[in-house]
Parts: sequence; C-alpha cells; structure tokens
Amino acid sequence: MSLDLRYPALSDLKTACKGRVPWFVWEYLDSATGTESVKTRNRAALDSILFAPGMLKGPVTPDLTTRLLGQEHALPVGVAPVGMSGMIWPGAEAALARHADTARIPYTLSTVATRLPEEIGPIAGDMGWFQLYPPKDPGIRADLLARARKAGFHTLVLTVDVPGPSRRERQLRAQLAIPPKTTPSMLWQVARRPTWALGTLRHGQPRLRLMEEYLKLDGNAPSTAHAGYLLRAAPDWGYLRELRALWDGPLIIKGVLRPADALQLRQEGADAIWVSNHGGRQFDGAPAAIHCLPAIRAALGPEYPILFDSGVESGLDVLRACALGADFVLLGRGWHYALGALGQRGPSHLLHILREDMIANMVQMGIARPVQARNCLIDPPEM
Ligand SMILES: Cc1cc2nc3c(=O)[nH]c(=O)nc-3n(C[C@H](O)[C@H](O)[C@H](O)COP(=O)(O)O)c2cc1C
Repeated sequence: MSLDLRYPALSDLKTACKGRVPWFVWEYLDSATGTESVKTRNRAALDSILFAPGMLKGPVTPDLTTRLLGQEHALPVGVAPVGMSGMIWPGAEAALARHADTARIPYTLSTVATRLPEEIGPIAGDMGWFQLYPPKDPGIRADLLARARKAGFHTLVLTVDVPGPSRRERQLRAQLAIPPKTTPSMLWQVARRPTWALGTLRHGQPRLRLMEEYLKLDGNAPSTAHAGYLLRAAPDWGYLRELRALWDGPLIIKGVLRPADALQLRQEGADAIWVSNHGGRQFDGAPAAIHCLPAIRAALGPEYPILFDSGVESGLDVLRACALGADFVLLGRGWHYALGALGQRGPSHLLHILREDMIANMVQMGIARPVQARNCLIDPPEM
C-alpha cells in the first residue's frame, strides 16, 4: 500500500511514531512544559486563522520556491534544531541532513545533537545551519564557531528563549535525564521497540558528542551541571554584539515574540529573526507564537526576513504563517514523528505531505505564491 494511503497526514505519522519508539523517547519528543497549555494555544490559534477563497481565477499553478538569505529553496519549509535527535530515532541527524540537501530545504543542527558538526556538515551540503546554545567560555565559543564554519554550516542560529532549563514534567515522570541514564524500566521499554533498539545498537548509544569533547578539553568530570555551566550562558545584548562580530555569515535569532526585541535585534545586526515559543517547551505562560507574528511583521516592514515555528502540522498551517508575515516556516517535532514512523523514508514523505497540502490549499484559494494567502485572510490584522 502506498505511503499516501497509510499516512496521508502528519497525525498518522505521529500515531505510528508513538508505537515505534520507547515511552521515555516519546515523552522527550512530544512533551512541553507545565500544563502544556502553550501547545493547545498554538493549535487553537492556528486553527482560528481563516481564509475566504478567491473564485473564478482560472487555472492556478502554485510556485513554492522561496529565496531566503541569498539562497534558493524548494519551498518555504525547513528543519528546526532538535537536541538529542539521534536518541529519538537512530541516525536522525544524518537522515535529516541528507534529506534537506536532496530536497533543497534548510537543516539546523543543534548544539546538543548526538553527532558532531564535522560529521553532519558535509552531508547537509549547502543547506546546513548551525544552532548555538551560547557557550559561556569565550574560547569554547570561538572554537565551536570555527568548527561549524569549517564543517560547512554557513548560517548561525542563536537561540535566545532558553535563559535557563525548563521543567518538563512529563520527562521527569519518564525519569529521563540528559544524557540518558539507563533504568530497568527503560530497558523494558526498549525491549518492546525492537526496530529502535537494533538501530540504536548499530549507531551506538546516543551521547552529546560535542559537549563531551569540550568537557574533556577542560579536564573535568562530565556532569550535566558542569556542561551547563561551560556551554550555556544566559546571553545578554553584549553577548549578541560579540557574537555578531565573530560570525561573518548570516545570523538568525530564534525565540523572538516581541516587536521591540525584533527591532533591536535588527539594529544589532541580526540578518533574520525566528518567531517561536519553542513549541511550548520552555514557558507555559507564553502566547501562541502565531499571534505574535503580525505585530512583528508590522514593526519590521515588508522586506526583513522572518522565520516562524511552533505548532505547524500541515501545509495549510505553513500558509497561515506566510499570510501573517512569515517568509519561512520550520517544524521541530514533525520531522521526528516522521522518522519514528518510517525511518529514513519519513522526512521525504512528510515533505511530500506538506507540499501537496500547500498546493491543494493554494489552488483552493486561487493563489500562486504562499505570501498571497494574505490577500484571502478574513479579518487581516494590521501589518
Ligand atoms: C525534542 C525537542 C528538542 C529541541 N531541541 C532544541 C534545541 O536543541 N535547540 C533549539 O533551539 N530548539 C530546540 N527545540 C525547539 C525546536 O527547534 C522548535 O522551536 C520547536 O520544536 C517548534 O515547535 P514544533 O515542534 O511544534 O514544530 C527542540 C524541540 C523539541 C521537540
């Protein structure tokens, strides 16, 4: 049976993923923080964005190609950074990077990935972005940036919505520590998921390889608290200025929700901002990210690049974000649901779903470009 018949939507991939990864992995991937109200808000807010389709437009040929930061992409969709990606599905980082290169969409490697920039950069080709959790130690920071650059990552993403760890209660209940510490209950969960278990045996136990290297450099025992001290500063505007001076390629700031911050970031030399509430994983009091978009677009004007993520589950959601001011839309969990469901075939099937859904909805609206979805908005906000 074709993948389209078995998994026509992201929700089908999500259900299948849940049955193929151990429970503690599922809780890591799917959870948010607190009561998870942000996840609910993201979904409700996206669903509340409605369009009045145009009519009698004749044939429409949707064109999804999108230029961002000087590069051509097949569609305005990309892969957001996900830490410990290789724990969620064995070989995830390489699979996503390979798919991104082939499909011509960006792939963002997290600082806390299970693979090194040197391994993944060449696989991502010219589609690689590197996400930075800002190291406190200036020596480590300089080294990390140089390594990312040398490995082929031309665009840097600084995440600013993680000033400290969040309490992910579902992860605590699942007894998940990063890096993972094996408990008897986890072994039982793994035994019940043989494909994941065999894949993990083949790829080796998931570890924070990059962090481990710096901890060894420092000559100290690799405790998570120590790793946090060395590798995660709570950055301020001064830190951003230093980073801007150090990185000569495009710099994107991820985790922005306020127009005033967006304006200041542009002034400080950021090349793009990424509107996000981290998929609800950091702060349960945050607004739906999509609600923050229009005011940020209005503040920055029509030309400045804005990226968006948090709660996107379909091609229609991509169009909703484009209608409210995003130039580019990213997914975090979605790619991993796809990997969990279908292994290596997952990412291309998810991209197929998103592309077909975008096209079907653009034809319905009578628009040829995603940005034109704005013209069909019911109650368009000031932008
Ligand atoms: C399991 C998991 C790990 C994540 N790790 C990171 C990370 O290392 N760095 C980062 O900037 N964002 C991280 N994020 C946030 C994503 O980049 C993205 O903002 C979020 O997943 C978007 O929401 P979505 O999952 O609804 O698409 C993570 C998200 C998930 C689900």
